[in-house]
Amino acid sequence: MKTPPPAPSGALAALRLRLADAEETLRAIRGGEVDSVMVTGKEDSQIFTLDGAERAYRFLIEAMNEGALTLTPDKMILYANQSFARMVQWPLEQIAGGSFRRFLSAADGATLRALMKKAAHDGTKIHMFLHARDGSRLPVQISIRPLAREGRHPVTIGMVVTDLTESVRTEELLRALTHRLVQVQEAERGRVALELHDHITQLLCAVLVRSQTLADQLTARDGPAKREANKLRELLGQTALEVERISRNLRPSILDDLGLVAVLRVTTTEFMERTGVPVTLACVPLAARLPADTELALYRILQEALANVEQHARARHVTVTLTQRQDGVQFVIQDDGIGFDPTRLPARRDAKDRLGLLSMRERATYVGGTLTVKSIRRRGTEIAVHIALPTVGTEKPRIKTDKHG
Ligand SMILES: Nc1ncnc2c1ncn2[C@@H]1O[C@H](COP(=O)(O)OP(=O)(O)OP(=O)(O)O)[C@@H](O)[C@H]1O
Ligand SMILES: [Mg+2]
Repeated sequence: MKTPPPAPSGALAALRLRLADAEETLRAIRGGEVDSVMVTGKEDSQIFTLDGAERAYRFLIEAMNEGALTLTPDKMILYANQSFARMVQWPLEQIAGGSFRRFLSAADGATLRALMKKAAHDGTKIHMFLHARDGSRLPVQISIRPLAREGRHPVTIGMVVTDLTESVRTEELLRALTHRLVQVQEAERGRVALELHDHITQLLCAVLVRSQTLADQLTARDGPAKREANKLRELLGQTALEVERISRNLRPSILDDLGLVAVLRVTTTEFMERTGVPVTLACVPLAARLPADTELALYRILQEALANVEQHARARHVTVTLTQRQDGVQFVIQDDGIGFDPTRLPARRDAKDRLGLLSMRERATYVGGTLTVKSIRRRGTEIAVHIALPTVGTEKPRIKTDKHG
């Protein structure tokens, strides 16, 4: 058998040179530095021009901050831009031809598989984490769109990957700031409530006693003066009650002294008396007092929810329930009013922001809980808060019901 003669070293060098040339040409095409390519054949040469509009798109995609990719429906990467390569910290040339799955956890991979099926018909978006080469996890939003179709089957899928690191950080900062704001507001409310209670109410009581003495000293013969003194005493009595109510709303001392159930009872009774809407309060006697933060959060959530019932619901009945479960407490406020669509809130006429539901959710989150809003038009609204607590006793709790109205 004859072995082929070794290539002369000059030919090898020429081959290397052509290879380097071809690599450089490819790099230039990718970089948009080339607008036409001449391919030399055996008999003639052919010129391929890169369409002007396509070049502009390519520039755009290479220059953008977002990651851009095209993939086959089974997630094989056909193209990725530099930004994507930077995000995952892999060299660009090692990305194309590989699977997108290598940048995802198993769970995110499964979620994406289902989404890609959906994306074959409509575009879709999802938040997940990308696994970078150094082991870090990058929060991203992935927008998926079909790019070209062959009959009913998409040929390629386009993906735009947005790095959410900054927005996640800002969100966390904002949340910490809101939390701090709520803490400061609570401290200030407590201070004002104490001032009102300790000073103003005390003074008002002293004036009330004096006005009573004055009214008692005046006889029937003093006619109009006695009537005025009686009126004055009455007004002072009402003022003292009003100041006490304001102070209690700012920070009910019975919350600290007697606990959550007592304050729920007082708040719902007051609501019922003021609005005429009957409230059923069903509470389990809790095995132990909840942490002070949790009690305060649940009380503030009740205040906001009742304010909403009063302002928006047109309800005929409200039910407030506090139950203890194996894993925590469940607090529910239900009304049978007009209901609303929590996903579509119309703008306020006075151009102010709607903060009630938002602040309820934030309050629940601070104390490690979750808040869900269910509402059906003409059927009513349910606000449910679940707060996880360390495992509590297994004894089935007895529910105590207060029916007002
Ligand atoms: N119980 C309810 N029944 C009917 N609609 C409600 C109820 N609770 C809330 N809504 C609707 O949801 C919207 C948002 O409520 P949210 O408490 O966040 O804001 P708001 O009450 O409008 O303003 P704010 O609470 O900041 O004074 C309300 O404007 C209202 O349209
Ligand atoms: Mg509100």
